[in-house]
Amino acid sequence: MTVTATTDDLYAKVSHVIPAIEWATMADDAETIMRLKRERNAVILAHNYMTPEIFHAVSDITGDSLALAREAVTVDADVIVLAGVHFMAETAKLLNPGKTVLIPDLRSGCSLAESITADDVRALRAAHPGVPVVTYVNTSAAVKAESDICCTSGNAVEVIESLGVPKVIMIPDRFLAANIARQTGVEVITHPGACEVHERFTPLDIADIRAGHPGVTVLAHPECPPEVVDAADYAGSTAQMVTFVAANRPTSVALITECSMSDNVAQEFPDLEFVRPCNLCPHMKRNTLGSIRHALETMTNEVTVPEDVAQRARAAVERMLAVRIAK
Ligand code: 13P
Ligand code: SF4
Repeated sequence: MTVTATTDDLYAKVSHVIPAIEWATMADDAETIMRLKRERNAVILAHNYMTPEIFHAVSDITGDSLALAREAVTVDADVIVLAGVHFMAETAKLLNPGKTVLIPDLRSGCSLAESITADDVRALRAAHPGVPVVTYVNTSAAVKAESDICCTSGNAVEVIESLGVPKVIMIPDRFLAANIARQTGVEVITHPGACEVHERFTPLDIADIRAGHPGVTVLAHPECPPEVVDAADYAGSTAQMVTFVAANRPTSVALITECSMSDNVAQEFPDLEFVRPCNLCPHMKRNTLGSIRHALETMTNEVTVPEDVAQRARAAVERMLAVRIAK
């Protein structure tokens, strides 16, 4: 296709991490998505694990799970395309019941969301009467509806401490629960869920990175096992990793998380060396320029939440959003 000023402008946003020859295969989809957004009055919210051509070139709002939930409240458009996974689209719908929320591929799940049902939450409550349920946003709306409050990896400590109780049920990620429990004085009961991307990292991976890259700064996501977090220099949500890199500008950095994260941060910090050990999230990778274009062209893959579930799930998300976090 003819390269127009528009595609040149879009390419400038990803030129550090996408070769021009590869962009040539993407330019038509990217330009069509930009046109469809205008025609449909649509915005694209993209998680930090989107590939750079989605994250930097065609999206309007980007961030971690917490930022996407916060920003969803402020969206001024008729249509939201959630470039991420199903639970994120449900959260956007909970916070925007009057808007059309589309997801590029309805099969974009999450091993954590799939690890727990509403019945499991009711059973945990019955086993631990009176103990509040703090639910990671990586869950279905039906599970959120059974919860007292939600949290993300970016605010879990503040959410738990806001409750002022000695014990909480924190579901469904056993590693996040273990990592957060160590930062609070609160006893944490959890559930045997795990992120299929982060559970695979090991302390040996970090030892190998340090051996191959002396002086490297290692940042781990708190969905990693505690022994991996212990071996890292810092642990935080994907947005907290970006904040850390911006503030500390380590010359060499390894992000122990999903693969696209390093590509996206490298585009913003071209002078830093990114060591790229990573695991792909197959659910996040169902998002492509082609699937986004198709959703906008056909207005298909709408995400809805039944109203009785939505009311209770929304309350748990809104309680989370009301908790102030130290930034
Ligand atoms: P955050 O971006 O909130 O750190 O979450 C990571 C993740 O695995 C989302 O699915
Ligand atoms: Fe779920 Fe892990 Fe994929 Fe995030 S990276 S969507 S937590 S499986």
